[in-house]
Amino acid sequence: MDEQMQELTAARMSIIRYAHGFMDSMSLKCVVELGIPDILRKNAKPITLQDLAAALPLPAVNMAASKERNTKEIFGEILSKCGSGLFEGIGSIVDVGGGNGEAAKEIVKEFPSIKCTVFDLPQMMKNNSEKRSEVEWVERDMFNSVPRADAIILKYILHDWNDEKCMKILQQCKEAIPVGGKVIIVEMVIDIDQEMDMYPVLVSDMLIMVGLGGKQRTREEWEKLIHDAGYSKCKITPFLPLASLIEAYP
Ligand SMILES: C[S@@+](CC[C@H](N)C(=O)[O-])C[C@H]1O[C@@H](n2cnc3c(N)ncnc32)[C@H](O)[C@@H]1O
Repeated sequence: MDEQMQELTAARMSIIRYAHGFMDSMSLKCVVELGIPDILRKNAKPITLQDLAAALPLPAVNMAASKERNTKEIFGEILSKCGSGLFEGIGSIVDVGGGNGEAAKEIVKEFPSIKCTVFDLPQMMKNNSEKRSEVEWVERDMFNSVPRADAIILKYILHDWNDEKCMKILQQCKEAIPVGGKVIIVEMVIDIDQEMDMYPVLVSDMLIMVGLGGKQRTREEWEKLIHDAGYSKCKITPFLPLASLIEAYP
């Protein structure tokens, strides 16, 4: 890692640490309010997370999330790490859960010959005042079907969902691409073997788990999920701290 990247890594870690700093005290408050100390004391021996969760009076939480990320920076890094070969032979792309279309606009700017479609829920599209004409906009639910394309992008989508829902999304995407196509996933890959500051990883994992029922995944979990969804292989390329490119092939 060169000096500039080391600085960027440290800066990103600090931002996540400060932005989520409230989680420590909030977690402690929740632990007390949920009666976890009492449950542990009554159990009198070590308890599994599943058993602990089952003993908690937790209501179902359904929180809609729409997170803006620095797409320009992310795509710049992806292209500099993976080169333009990432989109070789690709004539059309659908950005599933593409939100405000930032990623699609960046791709079209860099590769004007690629036909890009932003695909999202109608309620998301309704709030989007910047629907520019260089990309196509499709309103639908990814659990029903995904428009056909040579490649599908899933950028920060799957971490919001549990394994069962992710399998469904990945299967819909597989049906939408041809044999030579691929699904391009941008996500955090937890790598405990690397010298990684685990605090921001664990905090974001907890936020996603509590708020959405999703989770951050390790390399092994990503490989298993993609394999179980029927893909023949996948390639994982880290390109920024806490962000990797996962290419899944049918
Ligand atoms: C975390 S945001 C990611 C947005 C964008 N890909 C990014 O990287 O900034 C998740 C997106 O998935 C969309 N989404 C959630 N459920 C969906 C569904 N069932 N079908 C299509 N899009 C969905 C949301 O509206 C939102 O735009």
